[in-house]
Amino acid sequence: MERADAHTEAVARCFDDWARRGRAEGMERGHGPVARQAFDRLLPLPADGRYLDVGCGNGYTVRWAAEHLPRGEAVGIDIAAGMIERAREHAATVELENVRFELARLPGAELPSASFDAVFTMECLYYEADIGAPLAAIRDLLKPGAPVACVVDYYAENPESHGWPDELGVPMTLLDAAGWRAAFEAAGLEVVDQQRLHPPLAAGQERTWKHEVGSLFTLGRRPPGS
Ligand SMILES: C[S@@+](CC[C@H](N)C(=O)[O-])C[C@H]1O[C@@H](n2cnc3c(N)ncnc32)[C@H](O)[C@@H]1O
Repeated sequence: MERADAHTEAVARCFDDWARRGRAEGMERGHGPVARQAFDRLLPLPADGRYLDVGCGNGYTVRWAAEHLPRGEAVGIDIAAGMIERAREHAATVELENVRFELARLPGAELPSASFDAVFTMECLYYEADIGAPLAAIRDLLKPGAPVACVVDYYAENPESHGWPDELGVPMTLLDAAGWRAAFEAAGLEVVDQQRLHPPLAAGQERTWKHEVGSLFTLGRRPPGS
């Protein structure tokens, strides 16, 4: 990874620590049900296509994508070395060969322009002070007409999340739904859909903000012919 600034280093340290303490798998369990709904909006993927997860954590969506890409490649990038290690271990356990994990940040990752058929990113982009920069990078990485699914739990309409920067000790960028839409459009991405996603409520489970306000999902695409 190119030399990171102090802010990126602080975020990477935080998530290295999470990875060491097993919290990557906790995120897979906690985010998985909503992530799956967002991921499914990127299907079908071409069998020889390419998929990218930005801020992939332990790589669970990369493993999902690999099943749809028998002749393609699923790529995960993350700024935390511990997350990349966990992602490689999980992929090796299930013997996936069409996956690749790189220690890299967006913007800045050295990936080929216009080479991805779908991009997914969950709970990641708001760690950047300028959300427009990774969104513009995603637009550049997508093939014309290809989609990007972005999910965030830290957003203005979810007051339960507003204390997270203090709890984590890292600055985060707070936008509302209209702000996310505007950021997509300013980065040259068309907004195809925006809605809240909710996990299913299991029998006897207590309702939380996840079932009430839910996760903010924005589906965009690089305009065809652009
Ligand atoms: C809250 S975790 C979410 C992990 C996974 N996407 C999930 O939903 O379970 C955020 C991850 O994004 C990574 N991250 C933060 N900013 C990033 C950036 N600009 N580029 C790549 N990865 C980033 C962090 O290291 C961390 O592993």
